[in-house]
Amino acid sequence: MTRFTVNNQPIEYRLDPQTPLLWALRDASNLTGTKYGCGSGECGACTVDIDGVPRRSCQVPIGTIEGTFVTTIEGLSRDRSHPVQAALIASNVPQCGYCIPGIAMAAAALLRRDRAPSDEAIHETLSNLCRCGIQPRLVDAINRAA
Ligand code: FES
Repeated sequence: MTRFTVNNQPIEYRLDPQTPLLWALRDASNLTGTKYGCGSGECGACTVDIDGVPRRSCQVPIGTIEGTFVTTIEGLSRDRSHPVQAALIASNVPQCGYCIPGIAMAAAALLRRDRAPSDEAIHETLSNLCRCGIQPRLVDAINRAA
């Protein structure tokens, strides 16, 4: 049994400790906002926050995060849009939208560390992949959220 907190709720997972966090969230907790893209840590679609650090949940066995605090896109904001989510909408960023939850989690983490990141810092930090070509609008949205 592995215990950690997800979106402020303590949860006990009766899963193999090697189960990737991505699948514990999606299949056991029905938190399907966290997406599967590559399964190999490359694309960032599965990004969640673990103890304040953005991590690619497909690469995190749940047995390694006992006692941590996990935040998913569902928990990013409780009662209204997080400023990053509002800015993504205002800047018309999403196209197909599949990568957006992971990008929102990575962008929120970036803005916690740096309240006014340069465009270069945004490009360097947000290594999440998007096939729709949203990068120019994404930079605009993060500047708007900042
Ligand atoms: Fe985890 Fe692509 S699904 S990085």
